[in-house]
Amino acid sequence: MINRQKGTYDVTPQNNQKWLFLEQTIKKVFSLYNYEYLRTPIFEATSLFKRENEASDMVKKETYDFIDKGDRPLTLRPEGTAGAIRAIIENKLYVDKLKNKFFYYGSCYRYERPQKGRFREFYQFGCEVLVNANPISDAELILLAKRIMDDLGIEVVIKINSLGGSDSKQKYTKALKTYFSKYEAELCSDCKERLNSNPLRILDCKVDNQKAFFKNPPKAIDYLNKDENTYLKQVKEILDCLGIENIIDYKIVRGLDYYSNLVFEIISKKTGMVLAGGGRYDNLIKELGGPEQGAIGFAFGAERVVEEMTIEPEKHYDAVILASPQNGLYATKVSELLRKNNFLIYSDLNDRNFAKKLKEALLFNPRYLIFIGETEEAKRMVTIKNTITKEQKEIALDNLVSIIKE
Ligand code: HAM
Repeated sequence: MINRQKGTYDVTPQNNQKWLFLEQTIKKVFSLYNYEYLRTPIFEATSLFKRENEASDMVKKETYDFIDKGDRPLTLRPEGTAGAIRAIIENKLYVDKLKNKFFYYGSCYRYERPQKGRFREFYQFGCEVLVNANPISDAELILLAKRIMDDLGIEVVIKINSLGGSDSKQKYTKALKTYFSKYEAELCSDCKERLNSNPLRILDCKVDNQKAFFKNPPKAIDYLNKDENTYLKQVKEILDCLGIENIIDYKIVRGLDYYSNLVFEIISKKTGMVLAGGGRYDNLIKELGGPEQGAIGFAFGAERVVEEMTIEPEKHYDAVILASPQNGLYATKVSELLRKNNFLIYSDLNDRNFAKKLKEALLFNPRYLIFIGETEEAKRMVTIKNTITKEQKEIALDNLVSIIKE
């Protein structure tokens, strides 16, 4: 037997209801907020992700890279933003200012050590909005993320922070370098390298963050200029006014390097799991060859969200049809008539013991049981039983739809 690959999983009939409910909810909420659906390829040119300014561990060490038969260096997308922005630029979607909000849902690939909430193939749903810095727009985006969580029955808290614009970020990076240099001997080998390549990433280190010197590193907020500081506070105030629980957390720096100014993470109250991350990236569009246009977005990890969902969506069957194979064609016509009217039907045409079929039919919890035998077929009727009132009667096929609709 060939087994599934490490870090992957199957969605099976045992757990597919939560996934289906999640997918419906995402589409519903994003549409309510006027977001356009954007779908981009799973593989892209390696150079889209491995850019000069992107020194995150994820892009440097965790991508699935390969050369195709035409000698093209390609990478399976490790996240949705770079591909979305590539598509927005390539298709000139930035021109229509009325359609400046995009959402996506799709698989991503990172070669990570699998653990709880961490897979090698995982799904992200997220969005990107082409809008220059404006605290109201940023807060509205967070509001939308919270609405998705509300509709899925997940309680969250939002942690926000600001990395500042290029100048402040540079000053902050320098301060981190000076600070961590004092502890160079104690840093892990990766962080020793990060000290020169990207000191900000040291804050993400899962090895060094347990060490004593990690308790008090410089905070980004101390390096923000006045406007950046005000901006962060304004976003907080707006979120407070909208009743969205949030805190400023100076340790949120995010795992990717394209962020500037506002960054945030959405955390499950129940488990403390980071469900989503996002923030403003005001230079990426230009860097990828597009216009000077600021943007903001977020992405949720769908597996982590499904894991948190307590809502147990159930399929509600309108009717189960029980017939024998001899009357199979007539029964199929009956179920088709009902499905055309959007009723959820389960049809059991197997040649088995009737009592057993009936027992199993009730497991579907249908509103009606519909029995079809030779007599019913001959008279173009069905025998229908209301499973709540227990009333059973014969009715003409022509009246079936209206009776179930009632
Ligand atoms: P990220 O923080 O790298 O940000 O990923 C977003 C979310 O994807 C995480 O919070 C987590 O829930 C989920 N995730 C990441 N890696 C894995 C994994 N190996 N297994 C399962 N879930 C995972 C981004 O990807 C940015 N593109 C978000 C963004 C959009 N920023 C602006 N726009």
